Amino acid sequence: MPVIIRRATPDDAAAMSRIATDTFVETFGHLYPPEDLAYFLLNSYSPAAQREMLEQDSTAMWLLERDGVAVGHACAGACGLPHPDVVEGDGELKRLYVLREAHNQGWGAKLFETALEWLEKDGPRTLWIGVWSENLGAQRFYSRYGFQRVGEYKFPVGDTLDDEFILRRHAGAR
Ligand SMILES: CC(C)(COP(=O)(O)OP(=O)(O)OC[C@H]1O[C@@H](n2cnc3c(N)ncnc32)[C@H](O)[C@@H]1OP(=O)(O)O)[C@@H](O)C(=O)NCCC(=O)NCCS
Repeated sequence: MPVIIRRATPDDAAAMSRIATDTFVETFGHLYPPEDLAYFLLNSYSPAAQREMLEQDSTAMWLLERDGVAVGHACAGACGLPHPDVVEGDGELKRLYVLREAHNQGWGAKLFETALEWLEKDGPRTLWIGVWSENLGAQRFYSRYGFQRVGEYKFPVGDTLDDEFILRRHAGAR
């Protein structure tokens, strides 16, 4: 089955909304009261919200497609994480999700490497990632690329506040 990674355009807003919703619900949906989850999905992952992000030059998104159907996605852009050392020009991996049925086949790594390449297309820069404190698999995954925990913050999903770790990789570090 052909699997490809391609840069998403504003015309992909509906597909991006679907895969962002499906992967978030599959991974984290059980953690939240239904009303908090619904509020978050509507505000963050609606087609309109995806289109707005896809139209920004400072942001890039990719779809992982199997037989033309999205099974994963990634999003990268300017760093918006609340850490005192973040400076203008720093980049952030904002989302990296693959449907469970497609895990452990190297697709997450390929998506991540695509995002890293785009983030550093003009040269090395300091990169940041926010990750749920209990998402040990993803933390292990990011540590293999040289990202280290340097802080914490609260990530709102409706009225629920998640404990998140902030990871950083200095420019040029691997
Ligand atoms: C993280 C993720 C994108 C990796 O995708 P993948 O295609 O399985 O990755 P690869 O096959 O390239 O690499 C496998 C590695 O992913 C990580 N991983 C495995 N299962 C995982 C899980 N359920 N959640 C998070 N990371 C996981 C591990 O580091 C694993 O390697 P290891 O267990 O041998 O140490 C994928 O597991 C995923 O979408 N998880 C759910 C969403 C998520 O947690 N995203 C990160 C939010 S910050």
